[in-house]
Amino acid sequence: MKGIILAGGRATRLRPLTWVISKQLLPIYNKPMIYYPIETLTRAGIKDILIILAPENAGLFLNLLGTGDQFGVHFSYVIQKEPKGLGEAFILGEDFLDNDNVTMALGDNIFDEDFSKQINSFKSGGQIYVKKLDRIEEVRRLGVVEIDKNNKVLSIEEKPEHPKSMYVSTGLYTYDSRVVEIAKNLKPSARGELEISGNPSISNTFLESGELKACVFDSYWQDAGTFDSLLEAGNHMAEKEKLAKKI
Ligand code: DAU
Repeated sequence: MKGIILAGGRATRLRPLTWVISKQLLPIYNKPMIYYPIETLTRAGIKDILIILAPENAGLFLNLLGTGDQFGVHFSYVIQKEPKGLGEAFILGEDFLDNDNVTMALGDNIFDEDFSKQINSFKSGGQIYVKKLDRIEEVRRLGVVEIDKNNKVLSIEEKPEHPKSMYVSTGLYTYDSRVVEIAKNLKPSARGELEISGNPSISNTFLESGELKACVFDSYWQDAGTFDSLLEAGNHMAEKEKLAKKI
């Protein structure tokens, strides 16, 4: 199993914070944001990780992360010239993946969970990591997953106005090696992106062939892509650290 961290994009929602620095380098309390997806993958035992970057700030990431030695892993880097969508990661990663399975973590997703079991027991198809949220406004800005009582996926929609469920697809995805060909054959969505959860998309392609599994979890998760969620994630991690020190 190889890993990809998608840390490009323009982060327009976080301007002016992101005019001259990448979102994924902003602090979440005492660490740069990108440390979190690195931890999500390394905790699951993934040691070979491709980091996808926008051209503007790629040098900063190299300075910060280097070869990966300090994390006990190996990093490779590739530039995404334009943010053409999450699905493009697998096209840019084709040589790196070299027909292996892959788990991709989005650079702005903060988990506090060990997904080793789910990732290590993965055999084939697609696997998404799904959490139930409370607020419909939040659900509307994410990938929405409809599941039955056995956690079988019934549908996935990207940012629907009328969500069919309160379960969302978080920024972690495990696919078998067919994902590269699927990405290459994918048509851009109405908003012009190669999608991961929209229509058409990578996850929907696996769903259509009955090969998409949902792993439902209930621990802390945040997409730190807005001012409020960035602040919330920082506060959460500060509380956690302080509690750990007390104990
Ligand atoms: O956070 C979970 C959500 O992430 C999912 O529920 C959605 O289904 C999924 O589409 C995605 O939605 P976002 O609107 O949050 O995606 P965003 O544009 O913020 O991109 C996510 C990360 O990927 C972010 O770190 C920037 C990076 N990115 C994005 C695009 C579109 C790239 O590196 N390249 C890109 O082309």
